[in-house]
Amino acid sequence: MASPYEILGVDPDADEDEVSDAYRELVKEVHPDQGGSTEEFRAVQRAYERIQSGYEPGEEISPAGATTARTGRPTAGGDAGEKDEQPEPEGVKVEFLDYEAMESRGWQLTDDDLFEKAADDELGGETHGYFYVEENETLLEAAEDEGYAWPFACRGGACTNCAVAIVDGEMPSPASHILPKELHDRGIRLSCIAAPTTDARIVYNVKHLPAIRDLLLPASRFEQTSSTD
Ligand code: FES
Repeated sequence: MASPYEILGVDPDADEDEVSDAYRELVKEVHPDQGGSTEEFRAVQRAYERIQSGYEPGEEISPAGATTARTGRPTAGGDAGEKDEQPEPEGVKVEFLDYEAMESRGWQLTDDDLFEKAADDELGGETHGYFYVEENETLLEAAEDEGYAWPFACRGGACTNCAVAIVDGEMPSPASHILPKELHDRGIRLSCIAAPTTDARIVYNVKHLPAIRDLLLPASRFEQTSSTD
């Protein structure tokens, strides 16, 4: 099995910045929205996590390495799950739901019991779960660090591919973004440039909302930038 350093394409003595830069480049290339596969994406995520948590050469990589106490699936009647004996991770907790799964079930963003219905349906996986966002991370970075392949293209607040809807909680927007006030007032945010400041419930993948579809710039517009920057 390839080592985490081989997966990221860096030397075993690479410093933190080199590892981080390699990871950020590779994760863009293998993201499912950019033509990669979910398996490749997760392998890169796991490699980065292993190095960050003190990987020693020769150590085996756990196939389940992306799953930690920092992420999980809320259960019906409570979200502690089987990890409740562990200390609470740092950061704010984000419970997420995939817009397409929500829409396919006839649920609405305005449903008071939206996340309870998701827990009752035991959706799990990429569809419904939670993770923690630490200080100085964007929501998109935090999702990727936990192995989730959320949509993005520009990573700079310009294309709306990464849009999410805040159902509960606070997520301030930086001044520079392209969302019209009406969408911002409806709780739409860009996950590549913002992060919640409180525990939050968020529907991601809302680029499929009709009002957002009109603003979308295609991912292909940003591929040249990604491969040369
Ligand atoms: S990825 Fe383009 S606005 Fe976030």
